[in-house]
Amino acid sequence: MPKKFQILVVDDEESITFLLKTELEELGGYDVDVALNGTEAINLLQSKIYDIVLLDIKMPRVSGIDVLRFINEHAPTTQVIMLTNIVDYKTAIETMKLGAYDFVSKPYDTDQLLATMSRALDRRQLVIDKKVMYNELNRITGSSGIIGESPAFKNVIENVRKVAASEAFVLIQGPSGTGKELVAHLLHNESPHKDRPFVAVNCASIPDQLLESELFGHEKGSFTNAYSAKQGLVEVADGGTLFLDEVGDISQPTQAKLLRFLETGEFRRVGGTASMHVSVRVVSATNKDLQKQVQEGKFREDLLYRLNVVSIQIPPLRERKEDIPLLIAHFVKRKSKSKTKTVSPEALALLMQYDWPGNVRELEHVIEGSSILSQGEVIEPRDLWINPALAQQVPSHAAALSNNGTPPLVSLEEIEKIHIQRVLEHHNWNRVKTAEILGITTKTLYLKIKRYKLQVPPPGNNA
Ligand SMILES: Nc1ncnc2c1ncn2[C@@H]1O[C@H](COP(=O)(O)OP(=O)(O)OP(=O)(O)O)[C@@H](O)[C@H]1O
Ligand SMILES: [Mg+2]
Repeated sequence: MPKKFQILVVDDEESITFLLKTELEELGGYDVDVALNGTEAINLLQSKIYDIVLLDIKMPRVSGIDVLRFINEHAPTTQVIMLTNIVDYKTAIETMKLGAYDFVSKPYDTDQLLATMSRALDRRQLVIDKKVMYNELNRITGSSGIIGESPAFKNVIENVRKVAASEAFVLIQGPSGTGKELVAHLLHNESPHKDRPFVAVNCASIPDQLLESELFGHEKGSFTNAYSAKQGLVEVADGGTLFLDEVGDISQPTQAKLLRFLETGEFRRVGGTASMHVSVRVVSATNKDLQKQVQEGKFREDLLYRLNVVSIQIPPLRERKEDIPLLIAHFVKRKSKSKTKTVSPEALALLMQYDWPGNVRELEHVIEGSSILSQGEVIEPRDLWINPALAQQVPSHAAALSNNGTPPLVSLEEIEKIHIQRVLEHHNWNRVKTAEILGITTKTLYLKIKRYKLQVPPPGNNA
């Protein structure tokens, strides 16, 4: 059965949404969700990927334009067709400048609407194809963003490519910062489902009471604050990949529910009675020793076997030091404003000596920090003071540091940027916690993030 197009109709006139939903669903080929105001629309857009949104311009409080902006930012391949009254003709044209695909005036003519929708769907496909092509190109040119030529690492990548084509569940293991999430993305991008969603769930950062409803969704009123029904991430991932990050952190009750889902593909929304079915490929990752967790009675053995059909082990960076120079070159190029910056042989020697307990992530931070701090075109040992452990572990480096007794003199802004980035990353980009630690308001934090162009590490597409 061909997949149905997912449509969202947003209008505060219930008669319009009712009519559109009935008409479109009777035609077949469309699944239609309805939102009666902008807030509801944004809620739905956060939990599901739509092909088309039919969007009223004039709504109280959150207007169609607000929703359009949200879509542009969060669901750029979703096509928006504005629904407008004749009198709003001018506004409608304005919305096209803001990224709407087209507009249809109310009362709408069904044939005209269907023709516009069909063109919008073509355009969406084009946008997606371009993205796919872009990924494809990256793969051919080898710039998937994954760096490593050491035999140990090449072996990992080869295994990933081999297993990507199958439907097998994969468990990625390795110490923190070794690139587990990156490898999970590669698994998806090399799989036959690469055009379908990749949905990442960080099981450690979602409070346990919420994890079940995040995964499986909930019905309206199933718990306090559940004002409307919400689709679970397993539904969002249907046909694609569900990435369970930090899977070792799931509580026992949720482990049981997850196991049932993995065995049958079936689940129930929290507070719901209907049994639903999806088909997803599950990739999970952990930096914990799950076998040990099983022995300690903290992790279900049957769940481990389900998840771990194929196991991919990423070795720590200290066991593949050949990769360090390549990674450095990659990060220098990506992080420094000057494309010609290099690392001096002395600095490189220090970086090779260090044992990188935080693995590639730690290396990335050191290189980013020191590219900013180094004054000239060459990163010298004295620029590496950004990492106190590194500075301490290497005596010659400590000496280099105290040359004139102080670290290099840079502006407060540069220090501030690096510090904010570190605190954000430490708290998994939780802005509330970060602002608290930094002693600033979340608004100030937000402005600083924008100003310094700090970036959330790649998804985490917590849809
Ligand atoms: N081989 C690699 N090539 C390029 N960048 C890498 C590589 N490995 C890791 N990185 C970078 O290092 C950082 C950490 O990687 P990632 O988040 O995938 O690690 P992780 O194993 O999931 O860590 P954790 O266990 O702490 O979640 C990311 O910014 C990632 O882009
Ligand atoms: Mg990770």
